[in-house]
Formats: sequence, structure tokens, C-alpha cells
Amino acid sequence: MTDRVIIFDTTLRDGEQSPGCSMNTPEKLEVAGALVELGVDVIEAGFPIASPGDFEAVQAIARKFGDRTTICGLARCRDEDIDRAAAALHDAPRRRIHVFLATSSIHRQYKLKMDKAEIVQRAVESVERAKALCDDIEFSPEDAARTELDFLVEVVEKAIAAGATTVNIPDTVGYATPAQYFNVISHLKKNVANISQAVISSHCHDDLGLAVANSLAALEAGARQVECTINGLGERAGNAALEEIVMALRTRGDYYGLTTGINTKRLCAVSRLVSGITGMQVQRNKAIVGRNAFAHEAGIHQHGMLQERTTYEIMRPEDVGFTGTNLVLGKHSGRHAFRDRLAHLGFTVDDDKFDQLFDDFIALADKKKDVYDSDIAALIENRTAEPADRWKLVSLHTSAGTGSVPTATLELKKGDEPVCCDAAIGDGPVDAVFHALGRITGIAVRLLNYQVRSLSVGKEAQGEVLVEVLYNNRTFHGKGVSTDIILASALAYLKALNKVEAHVAADGPHA
Ligand code: KIV
Ligand code: ZN
Repeated sequence: MTDRVIIFDTTLRDGEQSPGCSMNTPEKLEVAGALVELGVDVIEAGFPIASPGDFEAVQAIARKFGDRTTICGLARCRDEDIDRAAAALHDAPRRRIHVFLATSSIHRQYKLKMDKAEIVQRAVESVERAKALCDDIEFSPEDAARTELDFLVEVVEKAIAAGATTVNIPDTVGYATPAQYFNVISHLKKNVANISQAVISSHCHDDLGLAVANSLAALEAGARQVECTINGLGERAGNAALEEIVMALRTRGDYYGLTTGINTKRLCAVSRLVSGITGMQVQRNKAIVGRNAFAHEAGIHQHGMLQERTTYEIMRPEDVGFTGTNLVLGKHSGRHAFRDRLAHLGFTVDDDKFDQLFDDFIALADKKKDVYDSDIAALIENRTAEPADRWKLVSLHTSAGTGSVPTATLELKKGDEPVCCDAAIGDGPVDAVFHALGRITGIAVRLLNYQVRSLSVGKEAQGEVLVEVLYNNRTFHGKGVSTDIILASALAYLKALNKVEAHVAADGPHA
């Protein structure tokens, strides 16, 4: 048995399914690109039958990245799902169809209203159909962790005989515990006659906070693929967090003896990207990628760290690309220093992108004396996120204070059209800016959430603003960063409005 674990990322499918986390195609492409750079082995890009938008995104990802990593599309055990997944993946040299069908007695009785024999027959026919269209087939008996073991053995064995090359054992409702899930995987290894012809995979949800522990237990029992998401994004309490599994395997290599192909230095950057796009903020004390993950406050810890960092540190922040508040660069730092810092943060950019970023850096260093790693990470995110935006901010002016009516005057530009200018009043300068943006773009949304935080330390630190807006029962997120929080607010709100506009352009106003 190999000691190399296949990392199957489902941020764009299971993660994207969670409420408020939907992404548009350009955003999915951006995340897929970051996952390729991270080194994941399989990207589950979506569920092509679910909507034209899902199909388009899977197809775009398959076309762009299908020669660099395996792109996977999900399908129920239905002919039309399988054909649609195959069509979306068609142009990817490395592609996989993932078919699933529930097997637990609860799902058989209440959801599918099918008996065991019908389930087996449907699973086999579907795997065979998919196999005729694609060599690499994954089969998932949904709710496997609550399925009778003898029936699970039968379904898995027949799915492999029909052509499945990976058998995934989902803990769909996050019910399993580590020892029990270990036993399920061990049981399959022992009792499925043809198990050596397929890779066993784990897929754990975090309803009891056990998704990562269960995934690691599955690997101990012999699974060699693990399904996971960035930041543990996913339905309800989420899926197993990729960064936690990868760093557990790496940090405890002495115990697990397993490796992955992940470039761990990119973990924090991908985490920030996904959080910025979905608006799903990472809790401060989240393992690996939380802001406090490497903070040592207690005096006794600090003392130990100063003597020898391994007294209290089991991982080095730089190994996960952690961008803290290290003072790194200032106005007089040259191109070399800036390029070095980008490399240290795990970013390789081409010469054009580097020139743009360096200009941004100089502009920022003019405004604030000390530029931190977190500022540089924000510059990179700003540049990467730019092309999809239709409306761009040209200028902003606000006036506010006690005894006066807060007013905002803005100029925006949409493509090659002439600059549009308008003004509005509001409860405060931010409210006035939001009203003016709404008037100019003509996009009416409801603001659901507005948050500001400081990206580093000090009075001149950049502020990061996150907004969540509601349009036609769908939520859209935007992020803006600036040393001026009114400007950051305008950029964040405009980003969200741009997403609404792109959504309307793609799917119509009532989609
Ligand atoms: O949780 C689950 O069962 C799933 C399947 C589609 C694999 O996401
Ligand atoms: Zn799932």
C-alpha cells in the first residue's frame, strides 16, 4: 500500500453548497487556480446537472486546469446527471466522474423508497454508464457511515466490479466517531474481495466537530484519499478542513508515515482567498490558518519560545505561509526585497504582475510607513480579483461630522462608457457612499452584514471591510482594503454590486 495520500478538494462543490457561499464562474476559476498551485490531486469542481452556471464553471475549470490536476464532476445515479458531468469534463485530459447513491436504511426508506436490490442495481448501472464515458470513476454510497456493514460491503464490491476506481465512504451527516469510522474502513478492507482494485476515500462532515479526527482515522485504517475543503467550508458545520489534515499528516509524520503533494506554504493564502470570496470568515483561533494560530500571549510561553521555539511551537508559521504582523518592508525597500518577500509568502508571479504589484506596494508605502506581510497578501488579492469587475471606482469624496448631513459624491466607470457621477446623503459617510453606489449602478440590494477589521497593527494600518448583500434571495459578498476605511467600504460594496451585475448578466434578473 502506498504512503502517498490523494488530496481531493471539494471546496467548489460541497463547500460551495453551503448557504451564502455560492461563487460565480470567475471566482471558481480563481479558487481552482489557487488549488492547482497548492498541489491538490483532485478538484471536485461542481455538480454539472445542478444549473447552467454549475455546468459552465465545471467546463471552464476542466478546460483551464484539466491538464494539471484531475477535475471531477458530481452526478447522482441518473443517466442525465452522468451524461451532463461527462460533457462538462470532456475537454480535461485528467477527469473523473463521481457518482453517488444513498445506501443507509433511513435514506432507502424515506428518501429513495428503494430496496437494497434496487440500490445495488442502480449503482452498478450508473457506474457502468459513467465508465463508458470516463476511465476514472468514483462511487460514493451516501450516508455510508450509517449503512449496515454487510450491505456496504456488497454495494462497494459491486461498484468496483462495475468499474469504480475510487470508493468514497461518506459520513454524510457527521455522525461517525473516530474508532467507529476506523472500523468501517477496516471492515471494507477485510471483506470486500476486490478492494485492492480501488482507492478507499474518506469524506467527513463536522456536525460533531470530528471531521478531521475521523478522516485521520480512515487514513490509519487504510484509506488513501481524503476529501476535504479549504477552511472546512461545507454543508451545515462543514467538511473536514484540508489545512488541518495536511498539517496533521506533516507534523505527525513520525506517527502516520504518510505524505501529500501539498505545498503547505500556500495554505494561508488559499484560506484567505476562499474566505474573501465566500465572505465566510475564519475564526481567530482556527487551527493552522486562524489569526491567533501562532500567537503566544502567556509570559511563560513567550519565555520558552525565546529560549527555543520548539518548546511551544509544533509547526513553523512560515511552513503554512502565515502572514502575521512581521515588519518587513518600507518605502525604500527595493524590487529585490519585494520579490523576496513575495517568494517567502509562497507567491510566484510573472513579470507584468510583479510590476503592477510593485507599483501598488510603492503607493501603499507612501501612505503608511511600515508594510507588513498581511498588507502584501491584500495587495496580491486585490490584483487577482480585479478583472471580473465591470464597474470601477474613479473618485470618491465624502463629508461628514456633527451638525452636518453626511454626503458622498462618487464617480464610477463601466467599461468604455463615460464616467458617471452622482451624490447621496446617508446616516453616516459609509451609508451615504452605499446610497450613491446604488444610484449610479442602478442595482438595489439589501445590506445584510458589514464588518471592518484592521489588517495589521498601528493607527495607520489598512482596514479590511467585508460586506454581504441580498439580491433576489441570493447573497453576494465583497471585500475592500485601504488605509481609508470609507474607501475600503466603497470598494467592498462595489465588489458585491459587480457580482450581482455579473450574476444578472449570466442568469437573468430573476435567477
Ligand atoms: O456528504 C456526502 O455524502 C456527499 C456525497 C455527495 C459524497 O457530499
Ligand atoms: Zn458531503
